Amino acid sequence: MRSMEVMEALRGRRSIGKLDGDIDDAQVRELVEAAIHAPNHKLTEPWRFTVVRGDARVRLGAAWADCEAGRTTLTGAERDAYLRREAQKPLRAPVLIVVSTRTDADPIVAQEDFAASAAAVQNLLLAAHARGFGAMWRTGAMAYDQRINEHLGVERSDRIVAIVYLGRAAMPLPRDRPRNVEAVLRTLS
Ligand SMILES: Cc1cc2nc3c(=O)[nH]c(=O)nc-3n(C[C@H](O)[C@H](O)[C@H](O)COP(=O)(O)O)c2cc1C
Repeated sequence: MRSMEVMEALRGRRSIGKLDGDIDDAQVRELVEAAIHAPNHKLTEPWRFTVVRGDARVRLGAAWADCEAGRTTLTGAERDAYLRREAQKPLRAPVLIVVSTRTDADPIVAQEDFAASAAAVQNLLLAAHARGFGAMWRTGAMAYDQRINEHLGVERSDRIVAIVYLGRAAMPLPRDRPRNVEAVLRTLS
């Protein structure tokens, strides 16, 4: 399979909202293996990866719609349509990788573990891009509801850092946007 230079990968990666096709377990494993090369302070290896594919996506959608059913103030047909749409969300890609992180009692360790897990997510996105897959880092309310942790078998105290949607791009690569390095860079010398 084609690969690419790191600089090319990190400049060329885009969030791909429409994904289809399939990605097999060996390909997912390779991406996760690349992800866990991320730096992590004191080698805490705080990340966990839960792959959701096939009917597990349908079950996740149903669990999520149940959560929303208790929260939405919509009624009647509007409510039904809304809950149906919410239930469909995990079906937007053939594979979802839920990246979660342990939460240490020490807030600094917890912060650093979250940072390390976010770095692992970016590794995952870049590796997917380098291998020709499309991906999208999503969170939304689904990532912050403990009933979803429970449904997925993720520790209640762990935090979901990303729900990475993965597949083959089913849309043109979104156009890049300009970056303003000067606005964010300063040098002390
Ligand atoms: C922590 C985090 C959470 C995100 N959650 C969502 C999300 O829930 N929905 C979404 O459409 N995009 C989400 N994104 C993707 C960003 O919208 C996207 O990265 C941004 O628009 C820039 O586009 P690019 O990734 O193509 O450069 C998230 C990104 C990050 C870092």
